[in-house]
Amino acid sequence: MKRSVLKLTVIGLTVAAFALTATRSRGVIASADDAAALYKAKCAMCHAADGGGDTTVGKSLKVRDLRSADVQGQTDAQLLEVVSKGKGKMPAYEKTLGADKCKDLVAYIRTLK
Ligand code: HEC
Repeated sequence: MKRSVLKLTVIGLTVAAFALTATRSRGVIASADDAAALYKAKCAMCHAADGGGDTTVGKSLKVRDLRSADVQGQTDAQLLEVVSKGKGKMPAYEKTLGADKCKDLVAYIRTLK
């Protein structure tokens, strides 16, 4: 009897610890309002932290330098279209991140140049 109470307590604590960690990490994602953090988490693997595209995946997909005139010369609407709807090998993000976050990301890309 004592043993099963102990077991239950251990299980209970484990579940509580898990729940706490899960809430915490959700909190981090929510505060990735911060477009810079979002960019690092979702985009940097292909576009590189500085936007230069100098990553293994970026090079293999031949992404353009986000700081280049080719990219910066496009309008916000054009860049937003690519981020929201995707293009070629570039994933679409409107459904997963929402339209507002996509706009924040375009604004962030403007800060890279
Ligand atoms: C799987 C790799 C990958 C990831 C992850 C990725 N991209 Fe891209 N991105 C691409 C590729 C490839 C292109 C070029 C698409 C084309 O023109 O065919 C591109 C193009 C773009 C462009 C247009 C630039 C141009 O070449 O005219 C923007 C802006 C952009 N990405 C932003 C983002 C943002 C913001 C994120 C994160 C939310 C992101 N990308 C995540 C691969 C990726």
